[in-house]
Amino acid sequence: MKYFKILFLFITLQITAQQGGMWIPSLLEGMNETEMQSLGSKMSAKDIYDTNNSSLKDAIIHFNGGCTGEIISDKGLILTNHHCGYGAIQSHSSVEHDYLKNGFWAMSDTEELSNPGMYVTFIKRIDDVTKQAFNGVNDVMNAKEKQSKIDQNIAIIKKNVTKDDWQDVQVRAFYKGNQYLLFIIEKYNDIRLVGAPPTAIGKFGSDTDNWMWPRHTGDFSLFRIYADKNNRPAEYSKDNVPFKPKHFLPVSIDGVVEDDFTLIFGFPGRTNEYLPAIAIDQIVHTVNPAKIEIRDEALKIVDSYMRADDKIKIQYASKYARIANYWKKWIGENQGIEKSNAIAKKQKLEQEFININKNNSKYKNLLNDFDKLYKEIDDVALARAYWTEVSYRNVELLRATVRLYQFEEKVTADPTSFESERAKLINSSKGNFKNYNAKVDKDVFEKLIEIYSTKIPAAYLSDNLKNVNYSDLTNTIYGKSKLTNPEDFKSLLEGTQQQVIEKINADPAYILGKDLTKDFYTKINPKFYEINLEIQAVQKEYMKALMETFPDERFFPDANSTLRITYGKVKGYYPKDGIYYKPVSYLKGVIEKYKPGDYEFDVPQKLINLYQNKDFGKYGIDGKMPVNFIGTNHTTGGNSGSPALDAYGNLIGLNFDRVWEGTMSDYNYDPEICRNIMVDVRYILFIIDKYAGNKRLINEMKLVHPKK
Ligand code: ARG
Ligand code: ASP
Repeated sequence: MKYFKILFLFITLQITAQQGGMWIPSLLEGMNETEMQSLGSKMSAKDIYDTNNSSLKDAIIHFNGGCTGEIISDKGLILTNHHCGYGAIQSHSSVEHDYLKNGFWAMSDTEELSNPGMYVTFIKRIDDVTKQAFNGVNDVMNAKEKQSKIDQNIAIIKKNVTKDDWQDVQVRAFYKGNQYLLFIIEKYNDIRLVGAPPTAIGKFGSDTDNWMWPRHTGDFSLFRIYADKNNRPAEYSKDNVPFKPKHFLPVSIDGVVEDDFTLIFGFPGRTNEYLPAIAIDQIVHTVNPAKIEIRDEALKIVDSYMRADDKIKIQYASKYARIANYWKKWIGENQGIEKSNAIAKKQKLEQEFININKNNSKYKNLLNDFDKLYKEIDDVALARAYWTEVSYRNVELLRATVRLYQFEEKVTADPTSFESERAKLINSSKGNFKNYNAKVDKDVFEKLIEIYSTKIPAAYLSDNLKNVNYSDLTNTIYGKSKLTNPEDFKSLLEGTQQQVIEKINADPAYILGKDLTKDFYTKINPKFYEINLEIQAVQKEYMKALMETFPDERFFPDANSTLRITYGKVKGYYPKDGIYYKPVSYLKGVIEKYKPGDYEFDVPQKLINLYQNKDFGKYGIDGKMPVNFIGTNHTTGGNSGSPALDAYGNLIGLNFDRVWEGTMSDYNYDPEICRNIMVDVRYILFIIDKYAGNKRLINEMKLVHPKK
């Protein structure tokens, strides 16, 4: 009997302990610590986050604002993704030194390349300042008054905080504004490129394999932090020295097997796990389909040009990848939400919520309020999606008119800014024109402007798009506009302010673009924000109400680009009936996907040789070379480059993506099918050591054998 009871407890813990969540590292004691240990962790909450002693958090950095990175040596060596370092690698590349194509490996400190503008930040301390933030806030105030009181309080909190003068302070809202935390931050900006594999390894599989498992990508790159002689942040100087971290991650070469504990430490960007069913419905049935349709058409056109013309392929590769990344994610997201019945599940929870709160005057109307507000915002949310996708994301000429509109507004309000604003415009246009092809853009325009005009809710259709012939409009604009080539553009901006304003207002592209942009700034956006502000106020109450209504549930705050941990296990999954995906992929799979000369699936000869000779050094296992693995860790955009850690806090992998069936995890994390994808750290070591022959980097790391 006793045995069964223990077994039962063990099984329920195993099941309940894998429900995802992104947790605040300073608040792990209690539930999270217990849960992690039940999953196999040998770490205490203090091993992960401590302010008095060094802890794991001292090895984690926010990399250049959008990604995560980690310190893996006592000389400030940073590991992050190839796709996070891509811009830097590209900026050092030329036809003679194509580091994207061939890779880059600094063989000594002096060969490491500086990257102006690049920065990383450490989190030194996290304090809960909720009480101070709500000081003087009361229920007589309306939502706007409350927020302005909170903003005043935050300004005071920031002013009075104890910190060193080279440190920064940030206060951020959690649980939809029910909790406020303060972060003490250190920012370093002498960051140098140390190593990157060729694209054929670092981006192997490209867009075809993106968001998919099984995966075979060596998505990593290496950088180094340099500091002044006191180990403090400093602008680039050749006198700077490698940074000495408070902690760096030892690297385990014992590998992973299914069910091993994993912890991901990083900076997830944005999730929305507590939306009402009606909001998810709107995303799945209104907003996502519109955005997907636009990108479907744009990508098809760009792809056909890229396939036919090598120059266009280079010009559009990066833009194409960016547009395709979220296009593919939204498609997966929609399918996942349908398949997991996420909307019905939310509705069931809401029914329960209503039943429990039917006599609670504060909470009983919340779901009705949501209903009313989401119905109200539906049209304008759709209009906003169309405008953003067409005018801002996909038609380059229209995007140029948005910039021109902002220029006109600015210099009209402040004529003294004319010269500097004009210089800025000319300057930024140079890079844009380098990668611009008017023929491609014209085809995209013609297709998208018709979709825009016929599908945007009538109230938001701009006058200049009413009753027009799309093909005539396209021919006029692309035939006559001066925004389609650098010479005409320059001449358009010549002359006095008055002349310039007159000339641009006679340009057919600007005439249309101005009309669209003005409608966006004066009709679409204000309306959207007005309703959205009310939605946020209800969402804040609803968050609080959920936590009070279901006190035994685990609630984690939505991602907001602040430091979090998430944990789980190495696990395969069933993508559909009858198919099981194993959690580890091998170099064999790279060779299986190999297509000589293909831009996505080519494989460097040297890697083929290493494979054929089974020359894996100490990094292979049973004659095989592991490449990627998946786990039940709840991650999102921004977690790219995050370390995957074992039960002791050693590095076992590098996070870079999620699986197709689980991209809906931003709205509805489902432990059955949501998986994050990591590069096995042994593959990274293998590439650095055996492929690149860079022993000095291996030697500065601390390789460990925790399983032995
Ligand atoms: N899907 C991953 C993320 O959202 C990787 C994107 C980079 N790779 C690519 N093929 N576009 O960032
Ligand atoms: N690939 C994403 C990133 O760059 C990670 C994800 O969305 O899972 O942050």
